[in-house]
Amino acid sequence: MQAYELQHTTGSSSWSLVEKPQPQPGPGQALVRIHAVSLNYRDLIITRGTYPGLKLPLIPCSDGAGQVVAVGPGVTRVKPGDRVAPTFFQVWTDGERTPERVAHALGGSIPGVLSEYVCLDAEGLALLPDWLSYEEGATLPCAAVTAWNALVPQGGLKAGQTVLAQGTGGVSIFTLQFARLLGARVIITSSQDDKLQRAKQLGADGLINYCQTPDWEQAVLTLTGGQGVDHVLEVGGAGTLPRSVAATKAGGHIALIGLLTGAPGKPDTRATSSKHLRVISTYVGSREMFEDMLKAMSREKTRPVIDRVFPFAQAREALRHMESGGHFGKIVITV
Ligand SMILES: NC(=O)c1ccc[n+]([C@@H]2O[C@H](COP(=O)([O-])OP(=O)(O)OC[C@H]3O[C@@H](n4cnc5c(N)ncnc54)[C@H](OP(=O)(O)O)[C@@H]3O)[C@@H](O)[C@H]2O)c1
Repeated sequence: MQAYELQHTTGSSSWSLVEKPQPQPGPGQALVRIHAVSLNYRDLIITRGTYPGLKLPLIPCSDGAGQVVAVGPGVTRVKPGDRVAPTFFQVWTDGERTPERVAHALGGSIPGVLSEYVCLDAEGLALLPDWLSYEEGATLPCAAVTAWNALVPQGGLKAGQTVLAQGTGGVSIFTLQFARLLGARVIITSSQDDKLQRAKQLGADGLINYCQTPDWEQAVLTLTGGQGVDHVLEVGGAGTLPRSVAATKAGGHIALIGLLTGAPGKPDTRATSSKHLRVISTYVGSREMFEDMLKAMSREKTRPVIDRVFPFAQAREALRHMESGGHFGKIVITV
């Protein structure tokens, strides 16, 4: 079978196409024929060698979707023919996040899914509803579950509240879609006006160009009558967090998710405690959260926003497209 391997960490050209023996499912495992894979910003930073816990060579990418073709001894949860997507953390099925449950993640400390066939833990699979294509299903395990976890189990989002989404990448477009699905108002930022117009078509209420308006927290306050938003899904990190704190309502919630500005954000506890903010780090989520999210998406058939689909042979071009920052939503590779 064919797979990509990360053999060195010299940036977005580090993936090599290799021939490997097809794996056989062991006890408790399912063999999945992968049909589509989606990219996350994490896959890009992993190629730069700054991600902890990597053992090379590594099959990259956490997010895929495919069909079960065989199961190992003792597996009853899934059967050949089932359409599935893996969970980012193969052993976090439900309950609270613990260090053990998040110790190993696909495409990081354990091999990922950019491969024709993968053996996965049968407990680490979510069943995909029929109305989602493999390309759409492949967008969900990391970015969508992260947005869902931050908004719902962690954030306790209520209809009528206001959510701030930063930029128009994978996590933020799912944030916009899920917040709208649950009856919330969304303010979204972007570096590009045409992307803001696309976000408006998806239901965004407030649009801010963070390049033209560098003090965008003031614009958020103006759009919320001086109050600030109830929830911020913080994907920027150190470069955006102080502005996010200023843009959040007293008693509001900030989900610490990303580091797009180069470093993770460290909250200034004086500022966050004087406003009684809940500042909580989000780390993707459990299989139960994935399944709850699929049920909510099924109500209105919420379709993931796919920016572009690349063939398997052009996987490196797909990664370079992500690096360019030109995308809106998710980038997918067919396998
Ligand atoms: N903690 C977790 O569990 C978790 C899970 C998933 C992702 N993450 C992290 O979350 C971040 C986003 O991941 P992703 O996969 O959604 O990335 P992505 O799809 O590559 O999104 C990148 C987009 O973010 C926007 N952006 C860049 N710099 C920005 C800034 N200074 N302010 C506001 N927006 C900015 C840009 O949107 P415009 O082009 O519209 O400007 C850019 O296109 C990454 O840091 C990733 O590592 C963390």
